[in-house]
Amino acid sequence: MKYWIETWGCQMNQLDSARLSGNLAGAGMEPAAALEEASLFLLNTCSVREKAEAKVFARLGELKAWKHRRPGRRIALCGCIAQQYGEALLKRAPLLDFVFGPGEVDRIARHIALGVAVATHLPDAVDYDPAVVDRSDEVISMVTIMEGCSQGCSFCIVPRVRGRARSRPAGSIEREVRLLLDDGRDDILLLGQVVNAYRDPVSGLGLTGLLERLAGLPGVRNLAFVTSHPALFDPRLPAVMRDHPVLSRYFHMPIQSGSDRILRAMRRGHSREQYLEAAGRLGDTVPGLALSSDFIVGYPGETEADFEETLDLIRRVRFASLYAFAYSPRPGTSAARIADDVPAVEKNRRLNELLRMHDAIQREENGRLAGAVMDAHVVAPGREPGAWVARTRCNRVVHFAAADPAAVRPGAWVRLKITEGLPHSLRADPV
Ligand code: SAM
Ligand code: F3S
Repeated sequence: MKYWIETWGCQMNQLDSARLSGNLAGAGMEPAAALEEASLFLLNTCSVREKAEAKVFARLGELKAWKHRRPGRRIALCGCIAQQYGEALLKRAPLLDFVFGPGEVDRIARHIALGVAVATHLPDAVDYDPAVVDRSDEVISMVTIMEGCSQGCSFCIVPRVRGRARSRPAGSIEREVRLLLDDGRDDILLLGQVVNAYRDPVSGLGLTGLLERLAGLPGVRNLAFVTSHPALFDPRLPAVMRDHPVLSRYFHMPIQSGSDRILRAMRRGHSREQYLEAAGRLGDTVPGLALSSDFIVGYPGETEADFEETLDLIRRVRFASLYAFAYSPRPGTSAARIADDVPAVEKNRRLNELLRMHDAIQREENGRLAGAVMDAHVVAPGREPGAWVARTRCNRVVHFAAADPAAVRPGAWVRLKITEGLPHSLRADPV
C-alpha cells in the first residue's frame, strides 16, 4: 500500500510526519511519488489558529473526489486538530476513516492494520526510535528534545493538544545526534515548544548543559534550538553560545506583545523590561546573533497605546526576523472566555503596520550584511538553472549561483560573500 502525507503547521509537525512516514515504511508500506498513486492519505494538522483549522476542512472537501476515484482509499487526520476534536471529527467529516493525535505517531501502522479508527493518547514519557524517522527529504536534521508545554499562555491551545511539558532523556537525544553525525548529517535542529523548560528526567540537566554536551560531539557543524521562552531565559546561555561556535547564531524567543498590560493578560510570566534585558545580553555577548520573535496583535483589550508599545519594542530590538499573527480565539483557552473585542479590520491594520515597519528594519539589517563572508548550508535548487538557496548559520535565506555546479547539491556547505540584502533574504557570491 502506498501513502501520501501532507503536513501543515510547525516544525514539530514536520518531524512527526517524518516519524509517521518511517512508521508506515517499517510496516511495509511505501511513500507514493504522486497523490494519485496513494491509497492512504494522511493530513497532519495544526490548530494554533482558526485559519489553519478552516484550511484543513477545505482540503478535506477537495479530497472527496480523490477518495471516490478508487475504491479502498482511506484518509487519516493526524496532529493537533485530531487531538482537539477526537472522535467528533468522524461525524463532522464523514470522509475521514481515521483520527490520530500527535502522541500516536509511532503506532499508526498498527492502528490502521487493526482498524482502530480513533486514537488520541498522549504518552507521559517522550522518546522515539531514531531508526523510524524518515529523513530522506531532510537537509537540516530535526531532533525532539521535549514535547508539550506547561506555560499556559492564555491564548494558546498547545498545552491542550500537545499536553504538559515532558522532556526526552538526554542520553537518548545524544544517541540520536551521534547517529545523525555518523551518517554525515551535521546540521542539527533541536525541537521543543519551550526548549528552555528542558530537564533531563534522569539527571536534571537543563537546556544550557544539554547544548554544551551536544556541541562537544565531534562532527557537529551547526546546532540550533527552537523555541525559547523569555520567562525561562538562562543568564548563562549567552556566554555558552559565544564559547561554542557550533551553536547556531539564530535565537527564536517570542514575546507576543510589547505592552506589560497585555503580557500580564496573556499570562506570559515576564515583563517587557525582562525581555529587553535578555535580548540585550544576547546581542552584546554573541556577535552576529539573529534574534527572532513572534507577535500577536489584537489580543482582547489591546488598545492603540498597547500596540504602539509593541511597535516601539520592535524599533528598539530590530529583530532579524519575526512572525506576527492576528489574535484568533481558540476553544478551551482562557482567553476564549473574554470578548474578542478588537475588530478584524483593526487587527489587520495593526498586523500590516507591524509587518511594514519590520520589513523596513529587516531590509536595513540585511543590507548591513553586504560584504560579510558566511558559511551556509545548501537546502534546495533556486528557480533559475545554476541558482541555489542556502541557509546561513544565523538562519537567513541566501540565494547564490554556483561557480562550480558539480560541487553544489542540497546538504553541501558553501562559503559565501554577501553582495546584497533583500527584504526577506540575502544575495551572495561563492568565495
Ligand atoms: N512555543 C511555541 C513555539 O514552538 O513556537 C509557540 C507555539 S505557537 C505554535 C507559535 C506562535 O503562534 C506563538 O508564539 C504565537 O505568536 C502564535 N499563536 C499562538 N496562539 C495564537 C492565537 N490564539 N492567535 C494568534 N496567534 C497565536
Ligand atoms: Fe503556547 Fe505559550 Fe506554550 S505560546 S506553546 S502556551 S509558551
